[in-house]
Amino acid sequence: MRVVNTVADLRTALSEARLDGASIGFVPTMGFLHAGHASLMEVSVAANAVTVVSIYVNPLQFGAHEDLASYPTDRAGDLRTCEAAGVDLVFAPEAEEMHTADMSTTVAVGGVSSPLEGASRPSHFAGVATIVAKLFSIVGPCRAYFGAKDWQQTQVVARMTIDLSLPVEVFACPIIREPDGLAMSSRNIYLTTDERAQATVLRQALLVGVELVESGETDATRVESAMRDTINTASLAEIDYVAAVPAQTLVVDGPLDGDVRLLVAVRFGKARLIDNAGCRTIET
Ligand code: PAJ
Repeated sequence: MRVVNTVADLRTALSEARLDGASIGFVPTMGFLHAGHASLMEVSVAANAVTVVSIYVNPLQFGAHEDLASYPTDRAGDLRTCEAAGVDLVFAPEAEEMHTADMSTTVAVGGVSSPLEGASRPSHFAGVATIVAKLFSIVGPCRAYFGAKDWQQTQVVARMTIDLSLPVEVFACPIIREPDGLAMSSRNIYLTTDERAQATVLRQALLVGVELVESGETDATRVESAMRDTINTASLAEIDYVAAVPAQTLVVDGPLDGDVRLLVAVRFGKARLIDNAGCRTIET
């Protein structure tokens, strides 16, 4: 495994690989890697001759009062995780390599960026889209692997890739969970023991929602209200949003019909956790 820190070195390494006809798999991350990230790497390694992982805590996607300064890092552990997953190249640039002081370009995706995370974190998806577009431009034609854990992010990236005709195939991979159902996240480290114990309500609420939709409920408000009731059994939970929405648009436009996504964002103390699940309404 090779670690490179500059755009030029990554481009050189990849163009050498391409000369040999290698297919490139790409897994963008912000580091502090866990089994969820490793699962994306493993899918990429199985499907491509060369897998690149980027590790970069992107300042553009953090709001002014968010956790950029305290975002956890573990470079040595991250490199071990990449190595164990069979990754070939790690791209770990410094901030100066990715952002010159006069950088003036933003990639803003409309539509699917607007509700839910977009409403709670107004500049977040423009920050994600800008850095992912830049990373795609640096890596070049590839297959890129994202986690369904960040369902809306994956939809935003897929939309951007189509709209800008980027030479990238975007794949969404399953959510990896702790044994008690909590979705793995670099931010779980912020949870106190009590918060960690209660954080399982996110998954429980999603299962309540799935059960309702799959037993014929098509009223999004009723599904959301049952999910809220479940989350509110946790005394330390502070709901940001709870949504039962069409899986592609993420905006309710009448009775639920077809593929549905249930999404939740809940604060526990310093941690803001998100999770989601897919289901389908029953055919009538
Ligand atoms: P980060 O939060 O580090 O996540 C990197 C990738 O890992 C994302 O595609 C995310 O959905 C996936 N992932 C995280 N937890 C997961 C889990 N429990 N199961 C499966 N996949 C999981 O998402 C970002 O970084 C950034 O926004 C980024 C795309 C790198 C742009 O800066």
